[in-house]
Amino acid sequence: MSLRLIMVGPPGAGKGTQAVGLCERNEIVQVSTGDLFRAHAKANDELGQLAASYSAKGELVPDEVTNRMVDERLNEDDLVNGFLLDGYPRNVDQVKALDEMLDKRNISIDVVIELVVSDEEVVPRLLERAKIQGRSDDTEDVIRRRLDVYHETTRPIVDVYRERGLLRQVDGVGTVEEVARRIDEVISSL
Ligand code: AP5
Ligand code: MG
Repeated sequence: MSLRLIMVGPPGAGKGTQAVGLCERNEIVQVSTGDLFRAHAKANDELGQLAASYSAKGELVPDEVTNRMVDERLNEDDLVNGFLLDGYPRNVDQVKALDEMLDKRNISIDVVIELVVSDEEVVPRLLERAKIQGRSDDTEDVIRRRLDVYHETTRPIVDVYRERGLLRQVDGVGTVEEVARRIDEVISSL
Protein backbone atom coordinates (compact mmCIF):
# COMPACT_ATOMS: atom_id res chain seq x y z
CA MET A 1 0.00 0.00 0.00
CA SER A 2 1.33 3.41 -0.87
CA LEU A 3 1.29 6.15 1.72
CA ARG A 4 1.63 9.86 1.14
CA LEU A 5 1.58 12.15 4.10
CA ILE A 6 2.37 15.62 5.29
CA MET A 7 3.95 16.32 8.67
CA VAL A 8 3.32 19.79 10.01
CA GLY A 9 4.26 21.44 13.27
CA PRO A 10 6.33 24.26 14.69
CA PRO A 11 10.12 24.33 14.55
CA GLY A 12 11.41 21.77 17.03
CA ALA A 13 8.14 19.82 17.12
CA GLY A 14 9.98 16.66 16.10
CA LYS A 15 8.98 16.50 12.44
CA GLY A 16 12.41 15.34 11.29
CA THR A 17 12.91 13.01 14.25
CA GLN A 18 9.58 11.28 13.74
CA ALA A 19 9.86 11.28 9.95
CA VAL A 20 12.93 9.03 10.00
CA GLY A 21 11.31 6.15 11.94
CA LEU A 22 7.93 6.55 10.32
CA CYS A 23 9.44 6.35 6.84
CA GLU A 24 11.48 3.27 7.75
CA ARG A 25 8.48 1.46 9.19
CA ASN A 26 6.32 2.26 6.16
CA GLU A 27 9.03 1.97 3.48
CA ILE A 28 8.47 5.46 2.22
CA VAL A 29 10.84 8.38 1.69
CA GLN A 30 11.20 11.59 3.69
CA VAL A 31 11.18 14.78 1.64
CA SER A 32 12.31 17.63 3.90
CA THR A 33 12.52 21.00 2.18
CA GLY A 34 14.67 22.26 5.07
CA ASP A 35 17.14 19.36 4.58
CA LEU A 36 17.17 19.93 0.81
CA PHE A 37 17.94 23.62 1.28
CA ARG A 38 20.68 22.81 3.81
CA ALA A 39 22.24 20.31 1.39
CA HIS A 40 22.33 22.98 -1.31
CA ALA A 41 23.75 25.48 1.17
CA LYS A 42 26.49 23.02 2.10
CA ALA A 43 27.32 22.55 -1.56
CA ASN A 44 27.34 26.36 -1.75
CA ASP A 45 25.46 26.34 -5.06
CA GLU A 46 23.20 29.14 -6.26
CA LEU A 47 20.02 27.70 -4.78
CA GLY A 48 21.81 27.04 -1.50
CA GLN A 49 23.10 30.57 -1.23
CA LEU A 50 19.69 32.00 -1.95
CA ALA A 51 17.94 29.68 0.54
CA ALA A 52 20.50 30.37 3.26
CA SER A 53 19.96 34.12 2.93
CA TYR A 54 16.34 33.56 4.04
CA SER A 55 16.74 30.60 6.42
CA ALA A 56 19.46 32.28 8.45
CA LYS A 57 16.90 34.95 9.38
CA GLY A 58 14.10 32.48 9.99
CA GLU A 59 12.18 33.67 6.93
CA LEU A 60 10.59 31.42 4.32
CA VAL A 61 12.41 30.91 1.04
CA PRO A 62 10.30 32.37 -1.82
CA ASP A 63 7.49 30.06 -2.95
CA GLU A 64 8.57 29.98 -6.58
CA VAL A 65 11.95 28.53 -5.63
CA THR A 66 10.56 26.09 -3.06
CA ASN A 67 7.72 24.84 -5.26
CA ARG A 68 10.03 24.21 -8.19
CA MET A 69 12.43 22.24 -5.99
CA VAL A 70 9.60 20.05 -4.65
CA ASP A 71 8.09 19.54 -8.11
CA GLU A 72 11.45 18.28 -9.36
CA ARG A 73 11.93 16.04 -6.33
CA LEU A 74 8.52 14.44 -6.91
CA ASN A 75 9.72 13.23 -10.32
CA GLU A 76 12.28 10.92 -8.79
CA ASP A 77 11.67 7.15 -8.83
CA ASP A 78 12.32 6.51 -5.15
CA LEU A 79 8.98 8.11 -4.26
CA VAL A 80 6.77 5.54 -6.03
CA ASN A 81 5.84 3.74 -2.77
CA GLY A 82 4.96 7.02 -1.13
CA PHE A 83 6.53 9.89 0.73
CA LEU A 84 6.40 12.06 3.79
CA LEU A 85 6.57 15.80 3.23
CA ASP A 86 8.42 17.37 6.18
CA GLY A 87 8.22 21.17 6.24
CA TYR A 88 6.20 21.51 3.03
CA PRO A 89 3.70 23.01 2.33
CA ARG A 90 4.31 25.94 4.66
CA ASN A 91 1.70 28.48 3.56
CA VAL A 92 -1.63 28.43 1.79
CA ASP A 93 -0.11 29.25 -1.61
CA GLN A 94 2.20 26.25 -1.28
CA VAL A 95 -0.86 24.11 -0.54
CA LYS A 96 -2.30 25.21 -3.90
CA ALA A 97 0.99 24.54 -5.67
CA LEU A 98 1.17 21.08 -4.12
CA ASP A 99 -2.43 20.38 -5.15
CA GLU A 100 -1.43 21.04 -8.76
CA MET A 101 1.70 18.90 -8.52
CA LEU A 102 -0.33 15.98 -7.16
CA ASP A 103 -3.21 16.44 -9.61
CA LYS A 104 -0.96 16.29 -12.64
CA ARG A 105 0.50 13.01 -11.32
CA ASN A 106 -2.94 11.61 -10.40
CA ILE A 107 -1.98 11.09 -6.76
CA SER A 108 -3.24 12.51 -3.48
CA ILE A 109 -2.32 12.98 0.17
CA ASP A 110 -3.68 10.31 2.55
CA VAL A 111 -3.22 12.15 5.84
CA VAL A 112 -1.80 15.32 7.37
CA ILE A 113 -0.28 14.85 10.81
CA GLU A 114 0.04 17.91 13.00
CA LEU A 115 2.55 17.51 15.83
CA VAL A 116 1.15 19.67 18.60
CA VAL A 117 3.85 21.17 20.83
CA SER A 118 3.87 24.53 22.64
CA ASP A 119 6.41 27.29 22.01
CA GLU A 120 7.71 26.90 25.57
CA GLU A 121 8.50 23.26 24.85
CA VAL A 122 10.27 23.73 21.52
CA VAL A 123 12.65 26.59 22.39
CA PRO A 124 14.78 24.56 24.84
CA ARG A 125 14.77 21.62 22.41
CA LEU A 126 16.22 23.81 19.67
CA LEU A 127 18.73 25.50 21.94
CA GLU A 128 19.88 22.04 22.98
CA ARG A 129 20.13 20.92 19.34
CA ALA A 130 22.17 24.05 18.57
CA LYS A 131 24.92 22.75 20.85
CA ILE A 132 25.06 19.45 18.98
CA GLN A 133 24.35 20.31 15.34
CA GLY A 134 25.16 24.01 15.13
CA ARG A 135 22.35 24.83 12.68
CA SER A 136 22.73 28.52 11.84
CA ASP A 137 19.03 29.21 12.48
CA ASP A 138 19.06 27.72 16.00
CA THR A 139 19.81 30.95 17.86
CA GLU A 140 17.26 32.34 20.30
CA ASP A 141 16.30 35.33 18.09
CA VAL A 142 15.95 33.30 14.92
CA ILE A 143 14.01 30.57 16.76
CA ARG A 144 11.52 33.25 17.90
CA ARG A 145 11.17 34.51 14.35
CA ARG A 146 10.64 30.97 13.02
CA LEU A 147 7.92 30.47 15.63
CA ASP A 148 6.20 33.74 14.61
CA VAL A 149 6.36 32.75 10.95
CA TYR A 150 4.91 29.37 11.88
CA HIS A 151 1.94 30.85 13.73
CA GLU A 152 1.23 33.59 11.17
CA THR A 153 1.91 31.82 7.90
CA THR A 154 2.10 28.05 8.30
CA ARG A 155 -0.55 27.25 10.93
CA PRO A 156 -3.38 28.34 8.56
CA ILE A 157 -2.64 25.32 6.37
CA VAL A 158 -3.78 23.12 9.24
CA ASP A 159 -7.28 24.59 8.89
CA VAL A 160 -7.26 23.97 5.14
CA TYR A 161 -6.50 20.29 5.64
CA ARG A 162 -8.95 20.02 8.54
CA GLU A 163 -11.71 21.23 6.23
CA ARG A 164 -10.68 18.55 3.74
CA GLY A 165 -10.99 15.90 6.45
CA LEU A 166 -7.31 14.96 6.22
CA LEU A 167 -6.03 16.35 9.51
CA ARG A 168 -4.97 14.19 12.46
CA GLN A 169 -3.51 15.92 15.49
CA VAL A 170 -0.90 14.14 17.56
CA ASP A 171 0.42 15.27 20.94
CA GLY A 172 4.13 15.87 20.32
CA VAL A 173 5.10 16.01 23.99
CA GLY A 174 6.58 12.87 25.53
CA THR A 175 9.47 10.62 24.63
CA VAL A 176 10.33 10.10 20.96
CA GLU A 177 8.98 6.53 21.30
CA GLU A 178 5.70 7.68 22.85
CA VAL A 179 5.10 10.17 20.07
CA ALA A 180 6.02 7.53 17.48
CA ARG A 181 3.43 5.16 18.94
CA ARG A 182 0.75 7.87 18.69
CA ILE A 183 1.64 8.46 15.05
CA ASP A 184 1.60 4.73 14.30
CA GLU A 185 -1.92 4.52 15.74
CA VAL A 186 -3.04 7.21 13.32
CA ILE A 187 -1.42 5.44 10.38
CA SER A 188 -2.94 2.07 11.25
CA SER A 189 -6.38 3.68 11.54
CA LEU A 190 -6.27 4.88 7.91
P1 AP5 B 1 13.10 23.21 8.54
O1 AP5 B 1 14.35 22.50 8.39
O2 AP5 B 1 11.85 22.58 8.11
O3 AP5 B 1 13.01 23.69 10.07
P2 AP5 B 1 11.80 23.88 11.08
O4 AP5 B 1 10.43 23.78 10.56
O5 AP5 B 1 12.13 25.14 11.79
O6 AP5 B 1 11.86 22.64 11.95
P3 AP5 B 1 13.09 21.93 12.62
O7 AP5 B 1 13.78 21.09 11.60
O8 AP5 B 1 13.89 22.91 13.38
O9 AP5 B 1 12.33 21.05 13.67
P4 AP5 B 1 11.68 19.60 13.56
O10 AP5 B 1 10.22 19.71 13.76
O11 AP5 B 1 12.16 18.86 12.37
O12 AP5 B 1 12.25 18.97 14.87
P5 AP5 B 1 13.43 17.90 15.08
O13 AP5 B 1 12.93 16.54 14.81
O14 AP5 B 1 14.67 18.34 14.43
O15 AP5 B 1 13.21 24.64 7.78
C1 AP5 B 1 14.34 25.44 7.96
C2 AP5 B 1 14.24 26.67 7.07
O16 AP5 B 1 14.25 26.27 5.68
C3 AP5 B 1 12.97 27.52 7.21
O17 AP5 B 1 13.06 28.43 8.27
C4 AP5 B 1 12.93 28.21 5.85
O18 AP5 B 1 13.85 29.25 5.77
C5 AP5 B 1 13.39 27.09 4.92
N1 AP5 B 1 12.26 26.29 4.45
C6 AP5 B 1 12.02 24.97 4.71
N2 AP5 B 1 10.88 24.57 4.12
C7 AP5 B 1 10.38 25.65 3.48
C8 AP5 B 1 9.21 25.86 2.71
N3 AP5 B 1 8.32 24.87 2.50
N4 AP5 B 1 9.00 27.11 2.21
C9 AP5 B 1 9.88 28.10 2.40
N5 AP5 B 1 11.00 27.97 3.14
C10 AP5 B 1 11.25 26.75 3.67
O19 AP5 B 1 13.59 18.04 16.67
C11 AP5 B 1 14.15 19.20 17.24
C12 AP5 B 1 15.04 18.81 18.43
O20 AP5 B 1 14.21 18.27 19.46
C13 AP5 B 1 16.08 17.75 18.10
O21 AP5 B 1 17.25 18.02 18.78
C14 AP5 B 1 15.44 16.46 18.60
O22 AP5 B 1 16.39 15.53 19.01
C15 AP5 B 1 14.60 16.95 19.77
N6 AP5 B 1 13.37 16.16 19.94
C16 AP5 B 1 12.62 15.60 18.98
N7 AP5 B 1 11.56 14.97 19.51
C17 AP5 B 1 11.63 15.16 20.85
C18 AP5 B 1 10.81 14.74 21.96
N8 AP5 B 1 9.72 14.01 21.78
N9 AP5 B 1 11.18 15.13 23.19
C19 AP5 B 1 12.31 15.88 23.37
N10 AP5 B 1 13.14 16.29 22.38
C20 AP5 B 1 12.79 15.92 21.13
MG1 MG C 1 13.37 19.33 10.71
